[in-house]
Amino acid sequence: MPYIVKTLISEMDLQERVRTLAEEIAPRLGPDPIVIGLFKGAFIFTADLVRELYRVGVNPAIDFMVLSSYGAGMDSAGTVAVKLDCREKLEGRHILLVDDILDTGNTLLFTIDHLRAKGAAQVLSCVLLDKKERRKMPVKADFVGFPIPNEFVVGYGIDYAEKHRELPYIGAVVQQQAAS
Ligand code: IMP
Ligand code: MG
Repeated sequence: MPYIVKTLISEMDLQERVRTLAEEIAPRLGPDPIVIGLFKGAFIFTADLVRELYRVGVNPAIDFMVLSSYGAGMDSAGTVAVKLDCREKLEGRHILLVDDILDTGNTLLFTIDHLRAKGAAQVLSCVLLDKKERRKMPVKADFVGFPIPNEFVVGYGIDYAEKHRELPYIGAVVQQQAAS
């Protein structure tokens, strides 16, 4: 179906919120922290967030994990698996887990459990966007960039069938009815 992408959060608003998020996060991070971003959706958010963390005096290790994802459509598979684990040793470490969107909660719950099972001392979580009304699992992020309504979004690293990750803003996908 044809669709358009409508701006939901501007580039300027994203920049400003990432900056204030870093200020909220910095005092709560433990010593010698690791930032773990989830590929691919959180790659731009993670890159911007660690640079804002630097400005407020945080010098973390940085790693990434790849999980099984949505596939090409708009619906979550419901099951999550690790495709590529992070390489850092996590025992006793203080972690900031970074994801793009908190939706049903499957991904965040699974990943927090996974990191704890690897011996992390602390797992804080930060998501750019929170679709609260979609939640199925009992999980909350410690830091949320923006709560958003139940709309399918793209941009700033987030895709629809591998498209639109390069947009510097967050847009909502709006389906267009074919003219009849
Ligand atoms: P959850 O496991 O259902 O919470 O889904 C979280 C993951 O689903 C996110 O990390 C995204 O990769 C993906 N996702 C959820 N909503 C959207 C969306 O609106 N656009 C693109 N990906 C999404
Ligand atoms: Mg994802």
